[in-house]
Amino acid sequence: MPKRQHARQTSHLQAAAIKQAPSPATLTYKPRTPQPAPSTTSPPRPNILLRHRSIALFVAGAALASIPVYAGFTYTAYVREASAPRAHPVPLDVSDRYDRNAGDYDASVDRLEWLMGITRLRRQLAGKARGHVLEASAGTGRNMAYYPLPSGRIKSVTLVDRSAAMVTVARIKWAKTNAYFTNALFRVQDARDKVWCPAPSGYFDTVVQTMGVCSTPEPEAVLRNLGEMVDPERGRVLLLEHGRSHYGWLNDVLDKIAPGHADRHGCWFNKDVGEIVEKSGLEVVEAKRYHFGTTWWFELKPKPRPKPVVVEKLEIAGAGDAAGTKRGSWWWT
Ligand SMILES: C[S@@+](CC[C@H](N)C(=O)[O-])C[C@H]1O[C@@H](n2cnc3c(N)ncnc32)[C@H](O)[C@@H]1O
Repeated sequence: MPKRQHARQTSHLQAAAIKQAPSPATLTYKPRTPQPAPSTTSPPRPNILLRHRSIALFVAGAALASIPVYAGFTYTAYVREASAPRAHPVPLDVSDRYDRNAGDYDASVDRLEWLMGITRLRRQLAGKARGHVLEASAGTGRNMAYYPLPSGRIKSVTLVDRSAAMVTVARIKWAKTNAYFTNALFRVQDARDKVWCPAPSGYFDTVVQTMGVCSTPEPEAVLRNLGEMVDPERGRVLLLEHGRSHYGWLNDVLDKIAPGHADRHGCWFNKDVGEIVEKSGLEVVEAKRYHFGTTWWFELKPKPRPKPVVVEKLEIAGAGDAAGTKRGSWWWT
């Protein structure tokens, strides 16, 4: 191509290129968006997570399924042992067993009570206590952790049990867990007898008893006495007991294994707790039953008592000395 023609063609192409290029007025500014830094961790792998979850579900399911199997085996072994014939008839008073079993008592009932929800019921019952509190048949003090001591609603706690060994265990536990609350008294004595009360009125505000009816040969006498030691106006007796069920078939089972259980553990768990409460003369404020009716919860209050008659002036002809020290005294007969 001749030189001139080539130059003309080049300038045509340049002109076309300039024409196609956007004019400076139409150029728009686009800011650069910062790009995220490349991640150093690898993204979650959903299939592994899913697999872990399935394993966890399988383990939980197997554990749940094993509970009834375990319970079945334990129950069968227990019934066989408890209903085996005894060489001697089992006495009604088996409370001496607690002296023997005090050291192992907590360990032997801890798991079962938690599984059955008894621990929760203890917490609820003890949580209702206020003022000067008496716990009768207190054993190793299994309710002590649940008294609302930090709230200031409790003024004193008196724990009473006739087994010195059980009271010793309770005392040691109190020193470990509740030592900051120093208004605690421990007594080895029978719950059928009057217990000294630190309240100025001489009455307790709350009396608690858990699993005590089953282990004492005279439960009505114990409950009657508890009712007499509680404030006649506002006092409450709180009970958590075990005994007969709503169901005849279950009562048959309880009757069958009760002697063996009582002989070994010191507790007749086939008593009619409702009938015992009725005979004690206490008034029912609230009653609840759990576990086919075998666990009994009661809030009781004493029946209104007639006020003691105070004789203002006793006129008996010729009685009393000159200063009248005897005459008019309410205690003089
Ligand atoms: C099954 S244990 C219950 C202990 C505790 N209250 C609890 O809930 O774990 C029964 C307790 O009642 C006591 N006990 C039985 N008859 C009693 C009585 N007449 N006076 C005082 N304590 C008695 C026994 O010594 C034993 O410690």
